[in-house]
Amino acid sequence: MSAYLGLDIGTSGVKAVVIDSEGAVLGEATAPLSVSRPRPGWSEQDPAHWWDAVLGAIDTLARDRPEAVASVEGIGLSGQMHGATLLDKDNAVIRPAILWNDVRSDVECAELEANEPRSRDISGNIAMPGFTAPKLLWVKKHEPEHFARTAKVLLPKDYVRFLLTGGFVSEMSDAAGTLWLDVKKRDWSDALLAATGLARAHMPDLVEGSAVSGTLKDELKARWGMRGEVVVAGGGGDNAASACGIGAVSPGEGFVSLGTSGVLFVSNEKFRPNTEGAVHAFCHAIPETWHQMGVILSATDSLNWLAKLVGQDPAALTGAVAKEYSGPGEEIFLPYLSGERTPHNSAHARGSFVGLSHLSDARTMAQAVMEGVAFAVRDCQRVLSDAGTTIETLIAVGGGSRSELWLEMIATNLKMEIAVPEAGDFGGAFGAARLGLIAATGADPRTVCANPKIARTIAPRADLIAAYDEHYQRYRALYPGIEEART
Ligand code: XUL
Repeated sequence: MSAYLGLDIGTSGVKAVVIDSEGAVLGEATAPLSVSRPRPGWSEQDPAHWWDAVLGAIDTLARDRPEAVASVEGIGLSGQMHGATLLDKDNAVIRPAILWNDVRSDVECAELEANEPRSRDISGNIAMPGFTAPKLLWVKKHEPEHFARTAKVLLPKDYVRFLLTGGFVSEMSDAAGTLWLDVKKRDWSDALLAATGLARAHMPDLVEGSAVSGTLKDELKARWGMRGEVVVAGGGGDNAASACGIGAVSPGEGFVSLGTSGVLFVSNEKFRPNTEGAVHAFCHAIPETWHQMGVILSATDSLNWLAKLVGQDPAALTGAVAKEYSGPGEEIFLPYLSGERTPHNSAHARGSFVGLSHLSDARTMAQAVMEGVAFAVRDCQRVLSDAGTTIETLIAVGGGSRSELWLEMIATNLKMEIAVPEAGDFGGAFGAARLGLIAATGADPRTVCANPKIARTIAPRADLIAAYDEHYQRYRALYPGIEEART
């Protein structure tokens, strides 16, 4: 038997999945992680915790499924994107990693674009505080001694790769989220690196996500009882890796993810930026393929926030909404609890409830939260379409997709069907395992990255389209006024 391991270094935990050569899941294990928020807008993790969680998850898997783990021939890595892990010349971690949802480097984004006015053309993206490069400019300004000691900057999963293989390697999809990549050329940009006072020597080497990046260290193979040589694939940023898991690898194939953050993802045959609409235009994890994403920072996070506030379970809230639902509600919610990326690119935007009355309660406000997130996904579809992209197919992933009504609201707003896979977790770890299989066997990426079996398809509610069109226009009209009131 041959087996392949996928590892996802997420924000709230590490997940390990082992699959066989047909792609069937043989076992999985997780280990939790927590985020430290030392100041408002900051979000950090200690890279040592990632490594402890990786060891914990694979140790558990090796204990529960020893034969499968012993047969592993390829490993793929997926991970939270954009995080900055700084290593000194002795490969020691200099400071806690600054994560994707940390917004401290807002001012540095403007500085970066002033330092290199071609930044948007080369990187295909607006400099946003979530991305890696502005974080380094912040470190340079506020912690110059840390910046001076920095010999390598690694993304979270690439730091884990370094501990697994000893090599400094990244791959195109995650590297595209640093803002140091020439996304069209799939190579580091000397000009963008210079804009943050760095050079190629600070960067890892680059491979494609489905290519071999190195081999697993002997002591780790012995720890997990792995018998043969184990190659480690480039892997992907968590969104590109999830796309490999769900089969969104050909032009027009996409997914909508309702997790902590919300993502509308679509695969492209070429590099297709739209910086006006704050679209993310990145490389995909398979060769000669790109992708676009609209990213909303608080998706299920918005519902979890309300659930905590009203002392109820999020699933109970969505259930209560579904029971009474007959179309758009009275209240409108703007889900910008921690700023927004697409379409506003504002670290300072904040959430709002509008239209509250004496009749408002936890249920009606929960409906507004679900609708607000659906509108935010619709905003993403609008700016992707402005970039000339048509999404042909959409599959739902992420914890929020367990609410059928939430998906129906999104389907109605996007005016397109959303497919729901049969049971299974098609997150980054599963996609990464597929990339591990491709790297180890040389199989064709598009054959391996097939769609899962679809359990059902959620269709738009034709009777509610007009009502939601109107409600969406009200939602859109609110943001400028709220921004003005804030400043
Ligand atoms: C994408 C992004 C998030 C993280 C979550 O740009 O910031 O989706 O990758 O892990």
